[in-house]
Amino acid sequence: MGLFNRLVASLLPIVPRSIVRRVADRYIAGETLEEGMATVERLNREGTMATVDVLGEFVKERAVAERETNRSIRVLEEMRRRGLQSNLSVKLTSLGLDIDTEFCYRNLHRVVACAAQLGSFVRTDMENSPYTDRTIELVRRVRRDFPENVGIVLQAYLRRTESDVRALAAEGMNFRLCKGIYIESEEIAFKDRGEVQQNYLRCLGLMFDAGCYVGIATHDDVLIDSAKRMIAERQLDRERYEFQMLLGVRDARRRSLVAERYRLRVYVPFGEDWYGYSVRRLKENPAMAGHVFRAMFSRR
Ligand code: FDA
Repeated sequence: MGLFNRLVASLLPIVPRSIVRRVADRYIAGETLEEGMATVERLNREGTMATVDVLGEFVKERAVAERETNRSIRVLEEMRRRGLQSNLSVKLTSLGLDIDTEFCYRNLHRVVACAAQLGSFVRTDMENSPYTDRTIELVRRVRRDFPENVGIVLQAYLRRTESDVRALAAEGMNFRLCKGIYIESEEIAFKDRGEVQQNYLRCLGLMFDAGCYVGIATHDDVLIDSAKRMIAERQLDRERYEFQMLLGVRDARRRSLVAERYRLRVYVPFGEDWYGYSVRRLKENPAMAGHVFRAMFSRR
């Protein structure tokens, strides 16, 4: 990230929420279920699958975690009712991981049981490193009951990930592989862009070679092009992997992958709790500073 972008990123906490919302609008489908579903319908019409996330994280109250669990179930039911090509993504801290691990397990189990009944799938997003072990543990436990209906995310920036891939691939895990978005220390995470890319491709190769299903979640041309080469070398069946991108990021590249007949899924977040997610996305945008300044000094 350039110096100016870093400066603006550090000032984001004092930027009015209304401005953040305007700049981050492209990354979220809206606040209501209807807006989320309408975005999925549009993506489906463009030949793209979706995974819907009800925005929310780091929940501290049981009643809120239960409400979030019910909302996720409602999304699964609504997607089924509308016949959408979409599954669900959840963050375990929104289902109560910070409150009590067993409580969170029961909530995740309820959501995945519903997905299984509807023939759908739940991807547990991976949050920051204090949650990595427990996320893996809960997904493993729920998978015992629903092996086809739940999968995990691993982050290539973590030094531990290669060994996690080896262990989980041996169990036939369904993976999403991303770089990782949270701020982690150098002790546990690669900091160099090239090292993260190398680890990404090493882990991707291990997942492919173990016969696992992989969601290749990246907008990085180096990784996309390398993944395409690896797929061709291995002559992988197109049902064994998919590319994944975030709503509002690199739409042109997404369309070109779809035109090349790659299966592609877009992450579609919606909900009232949009702030944390939006700030993470803004900080990744190479043109963020310019967007923030334009929004601050232009009249709507
Ligand atoms: P990189 O950040 O290098 O981006 C490559 C290029 O894409 C940039 O040069 C720029 O052109 C464009 N770009 C990227 N982000 C942009 C933005 N916000 N605005 C505009 N342009 C942008 N992380 C995590 O820790 N846990 C998780 O569960 C998930 N889940 C997840 C799901 C899906 C479907 C995706 C695509 C990503 C995630 N991530 C995630 C986020 C991921 O870890 C990572 O932070 C982002 O994907 C950015 O990394 P890239 O690989 O795209 O490379």
